[in-house]
Amino acid sequence: MQRTPIIAGNWKMNKSLQESVAFAQELATHLANVAGVEQVVCPTFLALAAVADALKGTSIAVGAQDAHWEAQGAYTSEVSAAMLEGIAQYVIIGHSEVRAYLNETDERVNKKIKAALAYGLKPIVAVGESLEQNEAGETESFVSGQVRAALDGIDAANMQNIIFAYEPIWAIGTGKNASGEIANQVIGGTIRATLASLYGDAIAQTIRIQYGGSVKPDNMAEYMSQPDIDGALVGGASLKVDDFKKLVEVAAQQKGG
Ligand code: 13P
Repeated sequence: MQRTPIIAGNWKMNKSLQESVAFAQELATHLANVAGVEQVVCPTFLALAAVADALKGTSIAVGAQDAHWEAQGAYTSEVSAAMLEGIAQYVIIGHSEVRAYLNETDERVNKKIKAALAYGLKPIVAVGESLEQNEAGETESFVSGQVRAALDGIDAANMQNIIFAYEPIWAIGTGKNASGEIANQVIGGTIRATLASLYGDAIAQTIRIQYGGSVKPDNMAEYMSQPDIDGALVGGASLKVDDFKKLVEVAAQQKGG
């Protein structure tokens, strides 16, 4: 099954409005010739619309880092999926930092995914276990539980628009990346297997699943050589034009069709 690789840069709370636009413009000039890989950048809400404008007509899509499920209302500090329609194409949902610092729950993740789909956004759903869970041998049960909870009530017709990202919490921003083999085991053996049990193997084989957690130019090939890994969700290395460009190039070389 040939799945188009997708590399997404999660800028987290980095870059001012001006820096974001300048970075996006520079990235667009450097990535103009890379084909066969979907490229996404996810700036802060502050910079999202300006970055989307700057990237119009380029091969780089824009994603939000979160989205509320209600269309509007008394939800101070939030931005809704409805408001992102026509501006962003993707939205990260369930990032472990949102789960840890903003009390994100599986139930809220599920509502957000449904809202994103309703407004034509493609959710990048992040799942992953903590170090304690990993050491206790709970990775498989925990991650498959997150996947099932995220997809509660979502039918097969929507699955082509959902991307998963396996981000073991112990690998995020720590420089301690999961080996390609371990990441592939969880992505194929747990996440894709869970998707197969929910929707059937034929659909599961078409769904893209990224790895995230200390992905860098020098370890990208290790991930992209694995059969079940369809790209990366990248933090730190997505903040540097050269690094992000190299990640996209490695993906294009190894899986760009
Ligand atoms: P790092 O690539 O900085 O480890 O961050 C990973 C991540 O959280 C992407 O969403």
